Parts: sequence; C-alpha cells; structure tokens
Amino acid sequence: MFDFRPEPGTPKPEAYRQLLDAAEALTAGEPDGVANMANIAALLWDFLPELNWSGFYRVMEGELVLGPFVGRPACIRIPMGQGVCGVAAKEGTTQLVEDVHAFPGHIACDAVTNSELVVPILGGGKPIAVIDLDSPAKARFDREDADGIEALARMLSDRI
Ligand code: SME
Repeated sequence: MFDFRPEPGTPKPEAYRQLLDAAEALTAGEPDGVANMANIAALLWDFLPELNWSGFYRVMEGELVLGPFVGRPACIRIPMGQGVCGVAAKEGTTQLVEDVHAFPGHIACDAVTNSELVVPILGGGKPIAVIDLDSPAKARFDREDADGIEALARMLSDRI
C-alpha cells in the first residue's frame, strides 16, 4: 500500500512538488504505460481535493481515446478539437476552464462537472495524450494547479 497524500493545509506549490516526487517514484523503471497512467490517475485522485474525475485520454489515429482514470464511466472517443480535451490535444496547450458550461462545445460526460483542467502530454513535440481533471466546484483550478500538472505532464512524456 502507498500513502502519498500531503498533510492538510500544505501550500499548493509544495503539494505539487510532493505529487511530482510520488509520480516519479511510482513510475520509475516501469515500461508499461497503462500501468503508469493507472497509478497516476489514482495518485491525482488521492492528492487533489474536490475532484469528480482524474485520468487520461490518449491520441490514437487522429482522435482521443479514453485511458486509465478514476471516476464515473466517461466518453470513450473524442474528436481532436472538440470539447476541452480535444482542444487541448489539437492545440497542444493547457486548458484551464473555470466554468465548463461557458466553454463552446464542452462534452458533458458527467453533469456534476463545473470546472476542468486539461494538460497535454507531448512526445517528440506532439501531443500524445492529455491529463484531464474535472471538479464539481466552479473555478476549482488556478494557475498553480496548471503549473503543477504541466510539470507532471513533462515528467510523464516518456513513461506512458
Ligand atoms: N469534459 C470533457 C470530456 C471528458 S470527461 O470530462 C471525462 C471535455 O469536454 O473534453
């Protein structure tokens, strides 16, 4: 059993440093990308309060395909450029969405979701997957969350 959760009240930058260390320890030396994504989805769920979904979509043959996650069953395939995940994957840029209902083309996999953070993982300079975090709270994610998840995405680029 692993228990990597930060102490309650840990400032976000420090919590994300601990998250990165835990992610590094969990994936070091493991070549199986599915195993690594499964553990990271669970780690994110454990670490971050107020989530209703944490997981991955992979870029496969020009579309996004559902990867390992924690949360309710979700949309399986998302066209590039559609929804928050599809835009993140197509543009290769982080999408920090305070209110998903105001995001044109948002794909509502779970009606309770109100805010979302999606960060692309680049491989050879191109998006190969995205990390998707959903929350029932409005404006759950801020720039510090985006910085922390972007650092995680860089670390994972050759581990998934
Ligand atoms: N809401 C996402 C779809 C994926 S689910 O939230 C898990 C989107 O618009 O990309």
